[in-house]
Amino acid sequence: MNKIALLYAPKGGSVEKAAKKLEKVCQHDIDVIEIAGFDVRNLMNYENFILGCSTVGAENWEDAEADNEWDALFHNIEEKKISLKDKIVAIFGLGNQVLYPDHFVDAMMYLKNECKAAGAKVIGEWPTDGYDFTDSESIEGDHFVGLPLDEDNEPNKTEERIRPWLEKITNEMK
Ligand SMILES: Cc1cc2nc3c(=O)[nH]c(=O)nc-3n(C[C@H](O)[C@H](O)[C@H](O)COP(=O)(O)O)c2cc1C
Repeated sequence: MNKIALLYAPKGGSVEKAAKKLEKVCQHDIDVIEIAGFDVRNLMNYENFILGCSTVGAENWEDAEADNEWDALFHNIEEKKISLKDKIVAIFGLGNQVLYPDHFVDAMMYLKNECKAAGAKVIGEWPTDGYDFTDSESIEGDHFVGLPLDEDNEPNKTEERIRPWLEKITNEMK
């Protein structure tokens, strides 16, 4: 299998912590990259991607933070006309189901939509069982579009969630 690029933002919090856990558990070649300052032309060096984000609670990230790194990354992809056609992407999202039960891990759907718009194939959907929330933008049918992680309330569940998810997505990577 080709090397995986795990791209994450923001730096220094729970997303980074989860990214490091994923790196530790992953049995394939993986580059873990914090996206601030990342040159989007390097996307072409990979076929397989894992993207990690957190939800910050606004309608969209442009409203939340003008300098949001993910927003900047996708603007750059568009501006440089980089196609993610034939690239495989899986998404994980940090959230807090106790404090934000109506918007649990909403941001994963933003990433999915941006990746699809750039031509990527998004994999890695995950059942809603085992989480306690009311609503989420990141549900399609009866599945999350990626893997939700809640380091605020269930840090002990992160690794047990990561392991089977990683196995599932790496089976579909090329
Ligand atoms: C201002 C603020 C808004 C948040 N809004 C949401 C939200 O809408 N949905 C959610 O699931 N989590 C929400 N969270 C929780 C974070 O996503 C969660 O704490 C996450 O682990 C943060 O990861 P990070 O520190 O790497 O950004 C919010 C946190 C903060 C501080």
